[in-house]
Amino acid sequence: MSTIAPVKESQTAEILPNVYGVFASGQMTLADVEWEQQRFHERRRWNAVELVEQINLDSLSEADRIYIWNFARAELTTKPGADRLARLSDSESRKWQSEDPNLAKVIQACGTWSRYWNEEEAHHEASLTHLLRRLDFEPVSDDMFLEYRQIFPDDDMLRTLFLLAMSEIKTTVMYTSMANKTSDPGLRTLFRQIATDEAHHMRYFNAFGRGLVDSGKYSPKGAFAIAQFFLREGGEMEGYARGRKEQRGTHVNWWDQLDFRSAERPDDFERQHKLTYVCLEQVTGIRVSTPEEVEDAWLEFVG
Ligand SMILES: [Fe+2]
Ligand SMILES: [Fe+2]
Repeated sequence: MSTIAPVKESQTAEILPNVYGVFASGQMTLADVEWEQQRFHERRRWNAVELVEQINLDSLSEADRIYIWNFARAELTTKPGADRLARLSDSESRKWQSEDPNLAKVIQACGTWSRYWNEEEAHHEASLTHLLRRLDFEPVSDDMFLEYRQIFPDDDMLRTLFLLAMSEIKTTVMYTSMANKTSDPGLRTLFRQIATDEAHHMRYFNAFGRGLVDSGKYSPKGAFAIAQFFLREGGEMEGYARGRKEQRGTHVNWWDQLDFRSAERPDDFERQHKLTYVCLEQVTGIRVSTPEEVEDAWLEFVG
């Protein structure tokens, strides 16, 4: 008799598209899913010290400095987001343990993944805050550091995941756009690398969101409520472009605090809208293609 047990893993590590299904069918255990996450994380790791060293600081334009300054600050808010997700996932997971153990596993797997997310965001934050330290530009003060570390108030799990997916949409689009605008090859590589991470985070949030919806315990309404909150006129999608700074009191929403001054704005709202529809479909299975359709679907859910 063999003492070596077969291990369940995909050929190349991937984000599981059907996380509720793999638990409900008994196909995978939490340990199987954890190994998949570990492999996916390791396959994509990059070295922040090496990438930052490849940037020619003397060649950076004023716009490049403004981009670095904005996103050094923005990335400070990801650690409290990930810390909160770890906490929320554990408490939510326990809530479902007897009623729907497979849902409890989906949420526990999300909490397990939150540490990879946190670690990957650490690369973004540390690269950019370090670059900013070396530039003759406004530094991140300790007061600002502390302010941006404030933790979001708790919310429903699906709404939380979809809000985080929306934040990743914004970062994916903006880093890609900034990579295309900079003329320094080193900074372009760093921005592209971060954009790729952000797109993977978005896909992970969608996968866990879909897991919640597949359980039948979370209505797609939660995802549509957040999409509507972003896409409505004057909504969160516009963020800083609304021309007013929202003071939340409890936490800092990074997209409110952006200030591009003389630099070209890297928004590409059309792309952000399209990605929002993709995320909604991945999470809920419902296809929409305009802000009006999002609003109609949301109104239908709220009756
Ligand atoms: Fe990030
Ligand atoms: Fe991210």
